[in-house]
Amino acid sequence: MTHPTRRAFMAATAAGAAGALFARHVPGVRAQTSDSRLEILVNEPIGTIAPDIYGHFVEHLGGVVYDGIWVGEDSKIPNVGGIRKALVDELRKIKPAVIRWPGGCFADSYDWRDGIGAAGNRPRRTDFWADTRPSLNRSPADGPQRFDPNRFGTNEFMRFCRLTGAAPYIAANVRSLPAKDFYQWVEYCNAPAGATTMSDLRVAGGDREPFGVRYWGVGNEPWGCGGNFTPEEYATEFRRYTAWVPKYGVDLKFIAAGPNGGDREWTTRFLRTLVARGAGALNGVYGWALHYYAGSTGDRNAIQFTTDDWYDLLTRADRMESLITQHWSAMAESDPSHKVKLLVDEWGAWHAGSIDMPPNYLWAYPGSLRDALVAALTLDTFNRHADKVAMANVAQLVNTIHSLFLAREDKFTVTPNFHVFAMYAAHQGKQSVRTAFSSPSIAFARDGRAQALWGLAGSASLREKELIVTVVNPHATDARECAIAVRGGAIRDGRATVLASTDLRAHNSFERPDALTPRDASVSARSGGLQHTFPAASVTRLQLTLA
Ligand code: AHR
Repeated sequence: MTHPTRRAFMAATAAGAAGALFARHVPGVRAQTSDSRLEILVNEPIGTIAPDIYGHFVEHLGGVVYDGIWVGEDSKIPNVGGIRKALVDELRKIKPAVIRWPGGCFADSYDWRDGIGAAGNRPRRTDFWADTRPSLNRSPADGPQRFDPNRFGTNEFMRFCRLTGAAPYIAANVRSLPAKDFYQWVEYCNAPAGATTMSDLRVAGGDREPFGVRYWGVGNEPWGCGGNFTPEEYATEFRRYTAWVPKYGVDLKFIAAGPNGGDREWTTRFLRTLVARGAGALNGVYGWALHYYAGSTGDRNAIQFTTDDWYDLLTRADRMESLITQHWSAMAESDPSHKVKLLVDEWGAWHAGSIDMPPNYLWAYPGSLRDALVAALTLDTFNRHADKVAMANVAQLVNTIHSLFLAREDKFTVTPNFHVFAMYAAHQGKQSVRTAFSSPSIAFARDGRAQALWGLAGSASLREKELIVTVVNPHATDARECAIAVRGGAIRDGRATVLASTDLRAHNSFERPDALTPRDASVSARSGGLQHTFPAASVTRLQLTLA
């Protein structure tokens, strides 16, 4: 049901044509001409924003694990037991709730036993991604990115999680290992010291205390690299893998590998098969994990693109909104009470090639302001669907795809995506409340065809008197003058943090790590409302205190 104040606002904004200037008086906002309006409906809660929405993903792919995270205990690069210290220090700042590992496609080739025990005894294995750049030599000189030494295994991953304060989320191998290996991995992680041979092995690896891993992914992309299953076949595998798993007092949460983008049929057919023998099967599924990447087209790369490419990528990323609502309604067919939550355990902007990094560091590029806007509008989408989305994991943490960090030997920098995560961390655990934006939409062309993108979008969350509002202005050149009103409250004061640049391609590099960083800005609340200018091509966080 629509709240009456929201209904009135929607009717009023629908009456104004896009592009019109709002000269009407918004109660609580000084009379001034604005081209945009935002109403925050603090009495219309959506749901608590799960901190896990601000999750990460680490795969043995390119330079993510080796060099990105693991530098080795004997390295001259500052490290904590072999783990890159600068990465730990920066990651802690953004409160990483959860980290998914070891893949991705790599997960369904991975034998967890390879990554435990004395380092010198661990086998070297061909990485899943070894053939992705066939032009390389295929020699050991290609490094751990192609031939995995298994130096970073379960105990090392758990230490990384402990150091950063994140919960572990392990993706198990369904394509190439039997269910028994899955049970024993759980046993290795969670059985008490001295209880079983598996827990003895963990203790021998240096970890007496059980890891207490709650999140377990049952395979990855079973419609593709995870086994080329049909949804019916995967549903059968899922039931079998989760039929008996030792708990050791841990509230295990099984995650089923969901659709690729808009593949609604994968969702419908999996759940239909799962419940065919009784709806009770839904109790064994914590989450249904969607994957969606927004790609750049043609031969464009992460930092070379036109203004139309800018809008095109943002529009593609914005598809997350309809993917969530479409899959949510597809899930309702077999799960009308929505026991199973939606996860998006891989997302991000995926561009061609690598930039200024070794060729075996696949898809390693700095990420520009454009990617920061992708991150922001996607996180806003998750916040707005806090009642549906229980977890999301940006792909990937470091040196690959939509990364927050770039690392190469002793060089290290944060990317613009990191700054967005830092700004948005304030939403974690707060109550998402409805927002209603009205702003002139943007016209652009894709393949010569006219397209449109909204003028302003964002999300808001509330805890007691603290209201966090995040807003994306995607316009490449125009600032937006916005009248902001809080329905059901009044703004007392606040401050703003802004990530923006007049250069759409702005990005950080090892040489210029501070080329793009957020800046603080003041806001002037008057009579309970706010008039605020959102700069062109920007992400803004408003931290407001209500009266
Ligand atoms: O993140 C890179 C790859 O994208 C993952 O391994 C796979 O799950 C997805 O296709």
